[in-house]
Amino acid sequence: MVAIRSERELKKIAESSRIVAETLDFLEEKIVKGVNGKELDKIAEDYIHSRNAEPAFKGYMGYPATLCISVNDEVVHGIPNDTPFKDGDIVGIDCGVLKNGYFGDHARTYMIGNVSKEIQDLVDATRTSLRIGIDQAKAGNYVSDIGHAIQSYVEEKGYSVVRELVGHGIGRNLHEDPQIPNYGEPGRGLKLKSGMCIAIEPMINFGEKEIYTKPNGWTICTKDGKPSAHFEHTIVITEQGGKILSNGTLTG
Ligand code: MF3
Ligand code: CO
Repeated sequence: MVAIRSERELKKIAESSRIVAETLDFLEEKIVKGVNGKELDKIAEDYIHSRNAEPAFKGYMGYPATLCISVNDEVVHGIPNDTPFKDGDIVGIDCGVLKNGYFGDHARTYMIGNVSKEIQDLVDATRTSLRIGIDQAKAGNYVSDIGHAIQSYVEEKGYSVVRELVGHGIGRNLHEDPQIPNYGEPGRGLKLKSGMCIAIEPMINFGEKEIYTKPNGWTICTKDGKPSAHFEHTIVITEQGGKILSNGTLTG
């Protein structure tokens, strides 16, 4: 069952999503060389509490932190640690918030200092692929139209799409039906209706699509050790396309 949200519910999902975007906006100038993920995690947690909201990831299936921080070959679900960011790193920051019984989920990939042109291009293409997916998220289209558009765009540039992890419905729970793959044939799966809320989150690898999970049971990495980028927005389906609820004013 995929929920169609009432105006009242949409306001709450939008509020949680907005707080996530403002959390990442608040962190943005602090995401620099020499800072570590644990420091950012503490700042994010305090900020979310100051907004009378709760971090959504902490405690979710035992996840230990407020943010997922995934550096270079880490795809997603990196656990914040005390290794300082260094020049040339790319850092994926994913955050979820729960407020008034509804969730928001949003991620961006940041560049530290001087990132090589080819890795900048990967980050830019991943951000753009999310926009292209969101454009397809309109009433009357099918779930797989989103992934098809994302996959076509990034594979044309020589990148690859992670298969094992997907976007998701969101609202009362962080993860709801339907699953939103970032690949596939067009015209398959559920027909999208206005008022459905989903999180679209392409994970795009510079090299091959294969991944593995680190021994900590969480962190997903590329098998070939090449970098990966990730962007995510919580959106609502409308007749015109996806309307972004997790909009900040900065990078995302
Ligand atoms: N945005 C991530 C996702 O939708 C959330 C991380 S899962 C958690 O998969 F367990 F870390 F919370
Ligand atoms: Co998500």
